[in-house]
Amino acid sequence: MMKISIFGSGYAGLVTACGLSKFYEVICVDIDKNKVESINKGICPIYEQGIEQYIKNIKAVTSAEKAVKETEISFICIGTPSKEDGSFDYKFLESVSRSIGKVLKEKNSFHIVVVKSTVTPGTTEEIVLPIIEAESKKTAGKDFGISMNPEFLKEGTAIEDFLSPDRIVIGTIDNKTKTILNELYKPFNSVILNTDIKTAEMIKIASNSFLAAKISFINEISNICRKLKVNSYKTAEGMGLDKRIAPYFLQSGAGFGGSCFPKDIKALIAKSRELNYEPQLLNAVLKINENQPIEIIKMLENKLPSLENKKISILGLSFKPKTDDIRESPSIKVISELLSKNAEIHVFDPIAMENTKKIFENKVNYSKNISESLKNASACIIMTDWEDFKKLNKDNFSIMKTKIVIDGRKTISNLEDIDYSSLGGQEC
Ligand code: UDX
Repeated sequence: MMKISIFGSGYAGLVTACGLSKFYEVICVDIDKNKVESINKGICPIYEQGIEQYIKNIKAVTSAEKAVKETEISFICIGTPSKEDGSFDYKFLESVSRSIGKVLKEKNSFHIVVVKSTVTPGTTEEIVLPIIEAESKKTAGKDFGISMNPEFLKEGTAIEDFLSPDRIVIGTIDNKTKTILNELYKPFNSVILNTDIKTAEMIKIASNSFLAAKISFINEISNICRKLKVNSYKTAEGMGLDKRIAPYFLQSGAGFGGSCFPKDIKALIAKSRELNYEPQLLNAVLKINENQPIEIIKMLENKLPSLENKKISILGLSFKPKTDDIRESPSIKVISELLSKNAEIHVFDPIAMENTKKIFENKVNYSKNISESLKNASACIIMTDWEDFKKLNKDNFSIMKTKIVIDGRKTISNLEDIDYSSLGGQEC
């Protein structure tokens, strides 16, 4: 059985570890002792549906030496935070590459290093490869293998995405590494696309940019639709029936958030600028997205001209359902905007309350449930399409002071007695 080590026990690392543990022996490596302890106790440090059943298969260590020596393949799933200019910061990637390189110097058998972290094209060959070669005094593609193998995981369905992927992309520079990695992924029964390393890096970042562009496209159309009193949900449905367009990622609303789309597009923009190309479409994708929370506030102010001291209920904080992740969540922007207008904000989310407290502390009120948030509220804004919110009916809203509901996510439909509007609806 192939033995694999995974560097970085963040989101991508843990899902990759758990997914691979279905078929192989997996060791996670992390410098964070608490995470290592937690994994060894069988407790997953992140929230992700379906991950618990696999976490018990995994061992975790803090030592790179043990992990590299005891395994044949090391995946690098380390975080790539953004720098001020939007480009990725590779300091963690560099330090992990150094640690792996040092161990490879002492290791005689062939070892493969796979970069899974999202990086801009060129990074694996210009940063990771030279560091490992320098530390190990060995040659990539001959003495050790190097590869870039992007992840396409969606939070909430990441385990499923890993086990049944649409495609697996493997970027390599030598045939031995290519053959071993193709063998590794055989049990996943997926289309495998073999490429060079730079193309694999580009496929990942271009895919995320395209999906984000689809969302900003439909958001722009929907902003025009509202002015024309045209229903943009129906418009999207009609467009999506064309196989070339497809219905996915055409839901207009509060805009995209999360740890990937905004960050990856910013990094691609920064990379293009470094190459003296100003990417106009990518810039627009971000700009439209940043404006969607403002569209929501404008819709609210059309109904309630002064928001000062008005109780506003915010249902949904996470950037999408089934996760407690609030990174870049449009909810955060809506709340900040409402705070600047001195509204009294009462938020509720099934699982993202704790993370939100870290940002807003006592500036907003944290409701115990939906009713507490809605009671005597002058308006309600639905920011995440949680299943529980989809079940809301006119009785739930009857406890509001004024029954104004703005739906940022196509969560509910028009209800009797309620002043309902959505970003995809026909209202101005
Ligand atoms: C995304 C990619 O889908 C995944 O392939 C990549 O590996 C990481 O980034 P994720 O961030 O988990 O995954 O979320 P995703 O489900 O893609 O949604 C991103 C955001 O777009 C959410 O805020 C969602 O609400 C929003 N969205 C999505 C829309 O506004 N409209 C849509 O039609 C689809």
